[in-house]
Amino acid sequence: MKPENGECEPGAAPYGNFTNYYRFNPPGERLRLIPAGDLVEVFPGGGAVSVALDVGCNCGDFSVAMYKHLCDLKQNLTWVSPDGIDLKLLGCDIDADLIQRATESNSFPESISYVTLDIMDLASREAVLKPYLDKFHRTSFDICFCMSVTMWIHLHHGDQGLLDFLFCVSGLCEALLIEPQPWKCYRSAARRLRKLGKSKFDHFKTLSIKGDVTQKIQQFLITDCNMELVQRFGSTSWDRSLLLFKKCSFS
Ligand SMILES: C[S@@+](CC[C@H](N)C(=O)[O-])C[C@H]1O[C@@H](n2cnc3c(N)ncnc32)[C@H](O)[C@@H]1O
Repeated sequence: MKPENGECEPGAAPYGNFTNYYRFNPPGERLRLIPAGDLVEVFPGGGAVSVALDVGCNCGDFSVAMYKHLCDLKQNLTWVSPDGIDLKLLGCDIDADLIQRATESNSFPESISYVTLDIMDLASREAVLKPYLDKFHRTSFDICFCMSVTMWIHLHHGDQGLLDFLFCVSGLCEALLIEPQPWKCYRSAARRLRKLGKSKFDHFKTLSIKGDVTQKIQQFLITDCNMELVQRFGSTSWDRSLLLFKKCSFS
């Protein structure tokens, strides 16, 4: 049973913080489109620690599945040490209950950590992310996963909020895997909220970034965030693009 456009009942989950998200969007559906080797290339290699950030990690199922996807890579790749990848992954989410569930079910506490964080809150971001990176003597993440989060940021923070978010996450990492929700999901989220008789998303009616949102996000990352698009992994069954960006080496 798959809810229309993938995201259901925003009234009950106004930030996309669905309690049963992975029942209707299992991580494997996306991971099968993303060859681990293509992501591992962004890591420093040579046995050095790699660090990843999963923004809007919900209860952690995708974070764990991605962690295993990358660490299980058995190919003989030059940038992977014979012992495999030493990956540390931080998952953050605005919803403390989801983070509690993620933490309690964490089978890899040495490598995966979770923290409650509103990524749009600059002070909290600094307080959480900098000390995490410091532990590994790093100033940025090797990769940031930003899966099905952009619409929720956009609906709550408007056009400028979305752009600030993209600028912020691209500044935090060397590579960015992003899965933006297309415009039809916005309409569907707003309609469902209306049907539930809940108050509207603050910005929905006034957004000027609309239509081909994915293309506009892509364009902004390229023109304003010093990123280049290096891979398109195709579209999911929910018609969402999986895009890998890397920081441009010049400038
Ligand atoms: C639709 S779920 C996607 C979960 C996961 N990224 C995935 O694709 O498997 C969106 C998640 O983003 C989180 N989220 C929304 N706004 C956020 C914010 N400002 N800061 C951190 N997390 C946020 C929600 O709580 C929710 O768990």
